[in-house]
Amino acid sequence: MSIPLAKLPLPELLEMKRRGDRIVMVTAYDAPGARFAEDAGIDIVLVGDTAAMVMLGHEGTTVPVTMDEMLFLTRTVARSVRRPIVVGDMPFGSYQVSDAEAVTNAIRFVKEARADVVKLEGAGPSLSRIRAIVDAGIPVMGHIGLTPQSATMLGGFKTQGRTAEKAMRLMDEARALEEAGCFSIVLEAVPSPVAERITATVEVPTIGIGAGPSCDGQVLVYHDLLGLSEGHLPRFVKRYANLSREIRDALDAYAHDVRAGTFPSEEYAYEMDATELALFEASTDG
Ligand code: KIV
Repeated sequence: MSIPLAKLPLPELLEMKRRGDRIVMVTAYDAPGARFAEDAGIDIVLVGDTAAMVMLGHEGTTVPVTMDEMLFLTRTVARSVRRPIVVGDMPFGSYQVSDAEAVTNAIRFVKEARADVVKLEGAGPSLSRIRAIVDAGIPVMGHIGLTPQSATMLGGFKTQGRTAEKAMRLMDEARALEEAGCFSIVLEAVPSPVAERITATVEVPTIGIGAGPSCDGQVLVYHDLLGLSEGHLPRFVKRYANLSREIRDALDAYAHDVRAGTFPSEEYAYEMDATELALFEASTDG
């Protein structure tokens, strides 16, 4: 497949929704991952705050990742792709305090890290942040349902919107995010019929993760879909490869070869001209 190199225009996402073309989004945190995503024709690359868990070794929480860490990762991804829209995920603490601080940090994402847009979690208090960031000229992707930054308040990493009342609340939040100016909304871990209804109600595209097949697009975490994450994975993750197995096998084989003296064999070593070698040996003799 030949891939256009110009940036995917943001309004094209709306057109894709109207045409019924599915939007493909994946997370990336480094240059190789970003290039693989671009080469696969992925539309949106999210530098997610899941980096806390899959890149930075924090167990079971996205909360500790800092602005500086997110900017570093986002800058790396942004310089490695051309067409995909690059989303900088605003980490916990970067937008909760005030509209002004949210705008300052969103500006850092686009100015210093070259993100195209930012994403932040929640509705309620996040709505005025979203309005302020959009007013500053930075497009915002919303994120409702299971919002990992507030997992403690939600009682853990749990499916959201499972009662009629809670599903209605999600619908209201989606409408409010659209009203506040979000160009797209991530729906995480919500029952498929609820996501379907929200998708049919809002004009902006929804991107599902654990939200069933009716969303306008889908997102998965790079490490999860490639089988780099080990341990328990949410039910919604489909593994398309088992790279951790491949990596473990390769590292075991390498360690074995080094210890056995079978690596490097001749084919991996440099030769030297025989005359030069003799001269070298003569000059280092006793
Ligand atoms: O941080 C992230 O990777 C995300 C996705 C799970 C949507 O927010």
